[in-house]
Amino acid sequence: MAVPAAAHGARKMENYGRFLALLASTLLVGFLSVILSLVWVFHYREGLSWDGGPGEFNWHPVLIITGFVFIQGIAIIVYRLPWTWKCSKLLMKFIHAGLNTIAMILAIVSMVAVFEFHNAKNIPNMYSLHSWIGLTAVIFYSLQLFLGFAVFLLPFAPVHLRAALMPIHIYSGLTIFATVIATALMGITEKLIFALNRPAYRESPPEANLVNSLGLLLVVFGSLILWIASRPHWKRPPYYYTSKFPLVRVLLI
Ligand code: HEM
Ligand code: HEM
Repeated sequence: MAVPAAAHGARKMENYGRFLALLASTLLVGFLSVILSLVWVFHYREGLSWDGGPGEFNWHPVLIITGFVFIQGIAIIVYRLPWTWKCSKLLMKFIHAGLNTIAMILAIVSMVAVFEFHNAKNIPNMYSLHSWIGLTAVIFYSLQLFLGFAVFLLPFAPVHLRAALMPIHIYSGLTIFATVIATALMGITEKLIFALNRPAYRESPPEANLVNSLGLLLVVFGSLILWIASRPHWKRPPYYYTSKFPLVRVLLI
């Protein structure tokens, strides 16, 4: 298999310093969001438990923010890390698919938590706009994951099908991610309105300010991920691997 010199990580990323600064800010904002969600549930709410009570509900925001927002965001930009460009595309596909699978599992557990909490407390299911958009996002995300595996990881899809589906894969991935951020903001607002009582949400108690700040951080995190993922010059450069083995050629796309 012949690999051109440019493929050996020698290629310099354009605006590398800016990329590093944005990546560091993204990681910082992402970590801070996870920490704030934990401070929220442990300091202001009932902590975490799995007993049908409020502690079980609290898994919902914590796992969504950790998995569906933070880990999914990192999965989206993982191909952009320039020090991974010397790694094989197949390895990067496993990392991208693996992180997205972890995000999916955490999202499902977080949904089980909120459904069990509702059932234990006889609260109706699926009445809110938040739950409609949230469930839709989860369904499309699982479809994206399934199609990603079937088309880009398994060696069956022909090269022309992979090339035709890639722009759709990228567009739907970014749209689902943006929808997840919007859903999280709706969920946070609902929870604050339901839970804050004497002082109420409108009186801006410290919990409301902390969680409003969490919402702001989620918007900043989402915007940074979308910015990084939409810079054409930070895209993983295509390597012109040539191989006489068709299977190897297909796996590299
Ligand atoms: C962004 C991804 C999210 C998804 C996909 C999602 C999904 C859902 C779904 C499907 C339900 C309905 C459960 C039922 O009917 O039994 C629900 C309920 C709820 N979620 Fe989320 N959620 C997300 C984020 C959040 C966040 C970050 C919070 C913050 C606390 C939150 C707060 C709530 C609340 C308060 C309910 C109960 C009221 C209702 O059904 O709307 N959600 N969520
Ligand atoms: C729900 C899960 C998934 C989401 C949200 C998602 C999202 C994305 C996004 C937004 C991009 C654009 C990244 C960039 O431009 O740098 C991308 C690229 C890509 N994804 Fe996925 N993806 C998912 C699952 C998968 C799976 C399971 C595979 C199978 C290996 C896969 C294979 C790829 C490939 C090959 C690229 C092109 C990377 C490049 O050439 O630079 N994706 N994905």
